[in-house]
Amino acid sequence: MNKEEYQFTYEVFDSVDELSQPDSWLLNEARGVTESAYAPYSNFNVGAVAKLANGEIVAGTNQENASYPVGLCAERVLLSSAATLYPRIAIDTIAISYNNNNGESKHPISPCGICRQSLSEYEERTGQSIRLILSGMEGKVYIIPRSSDLLPLSFGRVDMKQN
Ligand code: THU
Repeated sequence: MNKEEYQFTYEVFDSVDELSQPDSWLLNEARGVTESAYAPYSNFNVGAVAKLANGEIVAGTNQENASYPVGLCAERVLLSSAATLYPRIAIDTIAISYNNNNGESKHPISPCGICRQSLSEYEERTGQSIRLILSGMEGKVYIIPRSSDLLPLSFGRVDMKQN
C-alpha cells in the first residue's frame, strides 16, 4: 500500500491594490459585471470575466430560473460564450467576484463542483491551464494558478479512452 498526497499552492493578497495592473483591471471588471447577474431567487450575483490567449475579454454572470435547477453559474455562462465566440482559443485568466445583496462580500468564493469540472475540461480541450483570480467586492484575493488544481483525481476525457 502506498499513500499519495495532493497539494497545491495559491497566492493570497490582502486587497486588489496588491495585484498587478492587468489582474486588478480584470478583477474590477468581474466586480462590475455582477450587476448583469439575474439572481432574483438567491440574491447572490456572481460575475466572471476572462482574458483569452488572443487578448479578447469575455464575461459571464449567473442566470437563475423559477425552476431552480435550470439556473446557470457565471463560470459556465462564460465558458459557453468563450467557446462559441472564440472556438479553440485558450483562456489565460478568469476573475470571479460576487455581490451578495443579503450581506457582506469580503471573502473570495471558489467555483462550485460542476463549474470545476467544466473548467477542467476547458483546460484539457485548449491545452492550457486557466488561472483564477477570486475575490468578493472587497477584501482578500486568491490567485489559483490552474483551475484543475481545485479538482484532484478528476474524471476527464482521457478516462473515456481507457478500455
Ligand atoms: N453561483 C455561481 O454563479 N458561481 C459559483 O461559483 C457559485 C454559485 C451562483 C449559482 C446561483 O445562481 C447562486 O450563485 C447561488 O448559489
